[in-house]
Amino acid sequence: MEAQKKKIILDVDTGTDDAIAIVLAALEERFDLLGICTVSGNIEVKLTTENTLRVLTFCGKQEEIGVYKGSDLPLVSTLLPWTAQALGIRSEIDLRTGKRWPLPRREGTRLDKSEEHPEYLPLPPSKTREREESAVYWLIKTLLAQEENSVTFIQVGPATNLALALRADPRIKKAIKEIVIMGGGDRVTNTSPAAEFNTWADPEAMEIVLQSGRDILMVPLDATHSAYVTLSDAEKIAAIGTAPALLVAGLIRSLASSYINSHEEMRQYQAAPIHDALAVCAALHPQVLSEVVHCNCHVDISGGWAYGQTIVDKRKLLDSETKNCRFARKADRNFFLKWAMEVLSKDREKRPHN
Ligand code: RIB
Ligand code: CA
Repeated sequence: MEAQKKKIILDVDTGTDDAIAIVLAALEERFDLLGICTVSGNIEVKLTTENTLRVLTFCGKQEEIGVYKGSDLPLVSTLLPWTAQALGIRSEIDLRTGKRWPLPRREGTRLDKSEEHPEYLPLPPSKTREREESAVYWLIKTLLAQEENSVTFIQVGPATNLALALRADPRIKKAIKEIVIMGGGDRVTNTSPAAEFNTWADPEAMEIVLQSGRDILMVPLDATHSAYVTLSDAEKIAAIGTAPALLVAGLIRSLASSYINSHEEMRQYQAAPIHDALAVCAALHPQVLSEVVHCNCHVDISGGWAYGQTIVDKRKLLDSETKNCRFARKADRNFFLKWAMEVLSKDREKRPHN
């Protein structure tokens, strides 16, 4: 009897590592991917949506998997460059990148991600469009129709869509078995001295999700950086020879190149953390993670220097005190790579001409 598939929903801000996560989630035969929600993050939502459609089209999955366009603005923060324009907030030009910055610009924030996440992925324009329903509407409709504790929500961009859905109709919680979040950082940050990008882009949304009372597994930068992928790993993946494998290898090469000049300290030269794909792997194989602490984690929403910081309570908590998530500090890069290779190799067996 065929093992029951794991129902998942993916929420992305496609981006380069999101694209790898989408390929692997769509091809992993043990997943039942109910749909993909898009959100502003790495780039604006109209671009993250187009990129998501391009990836699915390139993998031949565009008819099978629906894409639902989500929020183009964070709940409260005005720090994403285009938010200022959308909200008509006076902003200043960043002399280095030419980007318009909303005020107040917080010192130490670095957001020039264009090398890591181009506006358009290097793929043919999509042949399909996003589905009619908005992401939040579809999330509520879909989750209300699912059995209790049956869906794993994998969030690899800012948490805006799920936060809005949770506030609009808390009944959806019942269907959510687990929320796997690529986000946060304790010893490792990237966008500001205190914060990781997904959390920094919409701190209030991440705090709402973290306090939702659901079972939460956080895959922060501490873990993703320990599961880095190298250029020689990319060559092994390329050797699988299918279009999805060649796409993943190309995206890894692009990320490895962008991380050479990145302010995220890499442990290995010409390597890159594939943040979002590790979260997808952990949703199926949590054993890929280690040093996982069950703790209480909040997001700083006070709007100062630490805006968007994930505050991990390392103190010895009493049993009666809230522990709202499992926070992973490490990951096994060999396990992660082996899983990715297996997914792509099985796809070649099933679709040799793809
Ligand atoms: O900090 C890493 C996260 O920010 C990843 O999800 C990447 O895609 C960006 O969204
Ligand atoms: Ca992402």
